[in-house]
Amino acid sequence: MSQQYANIVGFGKYEPENVLTNADLEKMVDTNDEWIVSRSGIRERRIATDGEQCSDYAAWAGKQALEMANVAPEDLDLIIMCTNSPDMLTPPVSSLVQDKLGATNVGAYTLTAGCPGWVYGLVQGTAMIESGMAKNVLVIGAELVSRFMDYTDRSTCVLFGDAAGAVLLQATDKKCGLLSYELGSDGSGGEHLILPGGGTQLPPRPENMGNRDDWYLYMNGREVFKFATRTMVSSLDNVVRDAELTFEDIDYFVPHQANLRIIEYAAGKAKLPPEKVVTNVQGFGNTSAASIPLAMCQAYEDGRIKPGQTLAFASFGAGLAWAAAVFELGEF
Ligand SMILES: CC(C)(COP(=O)(O)OP(=O)(O)OC[C@H]1O[C@@H](n2cnc3c(N)ncnc32)[C@H](O)[C@@H]1OP(=O)(O)O)[C@@H](O)C(=O)NCCC(=O)NCCS
Repeated sequence: MSQQYANIVGFGKYEPENVLTNADLEKMVDTNDEWIVSRSGIRERRIATDGEQCSDYAAWAGKQALEMANVAPEDLDLIIMCTNSPDMLTPPVSSLVQDKLGATNVGAYTLTAGCPGWVYGLVQGTAMIESGMAKNVLVIGAELVSRFMDYTDRSTCVLFGDAAGAVLLQATDKKCGLLSYELGSDGSGGEHLILPGGGTQLPPRPENMGNRDDWYLYMNGREVFKFATRTMVSSLDNVVRDAELTFEDIDYFVPHQANLRIIEYAAGKAKLPPEKVVTNVQGFGNTSAASIPLAMCQAYEDGRIKPGQTLAFASFGAGLAWAAAVFELGEF
């Protein structure tokens, strides 16, 4: 078999209809539009309505990616479902998504690696294809982080939103795909972005329910900010160098959408002009593992992202973990 490469041949996304603006948040917590915009760049975010689930968003985004590539769900070899906000602990949300897609006889697993999870999934899906073990791999990022937000905690709830994005990776013998990557983890900083309840340490038992803070996402914004700026700059630099490219060779930088200040800082260090940086944080907030595939799909739909381009990704988040990659798009 000739050398196989993993190309992106389908993009998909789901943007929830329900919009939560900064003005809405002003009525819920002690905050204001000026503070949120100046600190984060966020003006509004999308929030799931009652009854919607993570597996719904993932399946809708995944279906769109499959339709774009004209690939039937049963022709998939693998679904990598990247999320931090699954429908439930068991069954794995990946199996719920597989079922909702009608993808019979397809392997599926859930990948949880904080916000960088989707970049981890892209690297893993590529490895499956380049090794000859798979031909079609769906890599989805989908989040309903709003379900884990404390809407009385102004330091966190203003930053996050819900959405999904997906890509279909497909084998090709034409050279393209992943040129370089970096996956990183520093669990010693885990306490800075944490939701303690619901696992083996604090199982969901009535006697553990007393402290409400254990059941919401807590973030130490200043510590995460320091970690984010450091790792985004260094990992982006490393992957561009490992790909034997310069920043001038990058057509678009699609960063994790946590905070416009962090994105602008990283892009500035790399001397990437604003027109080469894809952002949606202003209208969607931080959609965790969905943020990069969502932003990429939006940039494809508005005509910016095209075949043959070279993209750079960089992400950071809970773990604390980070990931970056350079990806050359083939024909699609
Ligand atoms: C959260 C973040 C926007 C805060 O910005 P900041 O400039 O660091 O602000 P600070 O934390 O210094 O807080 C400044 C003040 O604003 C207050 N504040 C916090 N949230 C507020 C809000 N929503 N509205 C108004 N005031 C708020 C704080 O209480 C603090 O008040 P104090 O000085 O009286 O204690 C910023 O730290 C950040 O983006 N961190 C990284 C978050 C991130 O990327 N998370 C996702 C990881 S995947």
